[in-house]
Amino acid sequence: MPSLFDPVSLGAVAAPNRVLMAPLTRGRAGRDAVPTAIMADYYAQRAGAGLIISEATGISREGLGWPYAPGLWTDEQAAAWRPVTDAVHEAGGRIVAQLWHMGRQVHSSVTGTQPVSASATRTDGQAHTYDGKQDFETARAIDTGDIARILNDYETATRRALTAGFDGVQVHAANGYLIDQFLRDNANHRTDAYGGSPDNRTRLLREVVERVAGVAGTDRTAVRLSPNGDSQGVNDSDPHAVFLPAVRLLSEIGIAFLELREPGPDGTFGKTDVPRLSPEIREAFAGPLVLNSDYFDRAAAQRRLDDGIADAVSFGRAFLANPDLVDRLRDDAPLNAGNPRTWYSQGPEGYVDYPRRDAA
Ligand SMILES: Cc1cc2nc3c(=O)[nH]c(=O)nc-3n(C[C@H](O)[C@H](O)[C@H](O)COP(=O)(O)O)c2cc1C
Repeated sequence: MPSLFDPVSLGAVAAPNRVLMAPLTRGRAGRDAVPTAIMADYYAQRAGAGLIISEATGISREGLGWPYAPGLWTDEQAAAWRPVTDAVHEAGGRIVAQLWHMGRQVHSSVTGTQPVSASATRTDGQAHTYDGKQDFETARAIDTGDIARILNDYETATRRALTAGFDGVQVHAANGYLIDQFLRDNANHRTDAYGGSPDNRTRLLREVVERVAGVAGTDRTAVRLSPNGDSQGVNDSDPHAVFLPAVRLLSEIGIAFLELREPGPDGTFGKTDVPRLSPEIREAFAGPLVLNSDYFDRAAAQRRLDDGIADAVSFGRAFLANPDLVDRLRDDAPLNAGNPRTWYSQGPEGYVDYPRRDAA
């Protein structure tokens, strides 16, 4: 079985190791969703990752409600990503852009428009906004005209990602955002071709991935799913029934890799008693499979490779706090503890000042 430090092909991306950086929203872009110079430093510091998956990046104003998160729907945003991808490449790394439409998880004070979703639903709880947290609003159920527009937005964001120098894209279909709101039956009550049967609920995912892959190529198009348990109020009564067809269709399309965020019952960033689907997904999906959630040491991650269930592991919080995570894992060295208070704060603190081991 391969080691975490062996290379792996993730579609067209040749990753020199199997320690990937999971997508992490950090809120360091401008209010106009334009990336800032400090983001180049942050990502370049983490270029030792086999592959960096960028923070979730909005495909449209409608789809991006997170304060100070970046976008890819204007030329200015794409141009400001270029120094980031250049810095990663100059530091010897690789980076794909995670493409994001948040669906109902936005607030109109940020997007300027009523949230949209599969159905006219509302998430319990509150949205992050520029004016603090505000109650979620009831979404408008999107119609087929909206779907055509959103598919165009995915396509043009993919073009801009490639123009900006990304090595590919990852479609964010996890964590209770728009595509997940279509996949799972507690958020999708539609009676048209996008609701009801698993075939229908996976339709938007398929259409998005086909459109994105039509631009980037299947070998530069990845997908992230969160199949088990509640994600921001989105859940399914029978996850196997929808996620196994979903991964079969992704397998047939031939995407570059599939990443699963799968918390367990003892998860420290989301937890659930719903069993992980990765054993069945491994059988149903022919391409490289990346597992995520709650891996903080080399042995636990290596076990997934030894079990034959994963080809690589992605690390979120551990990479956030340890720019040299790959070296630390290789040497079984202790990790810096992260500071959740600065996860989404603006500025350099808790962003580019986590020490490397030789400087610690
Ligand atoms: C600060 C922070 C920001 C996150 N932002 C994203 C994101 O933009 N896109 C995404 O798919 N997941 C996001 N996640 C989830 C992580 O990618 C990952 O699934 C989660 O942290 C569990 O993995 P870990 O145990 O290795 O941290 C975020 C998590 C954290 C802690």
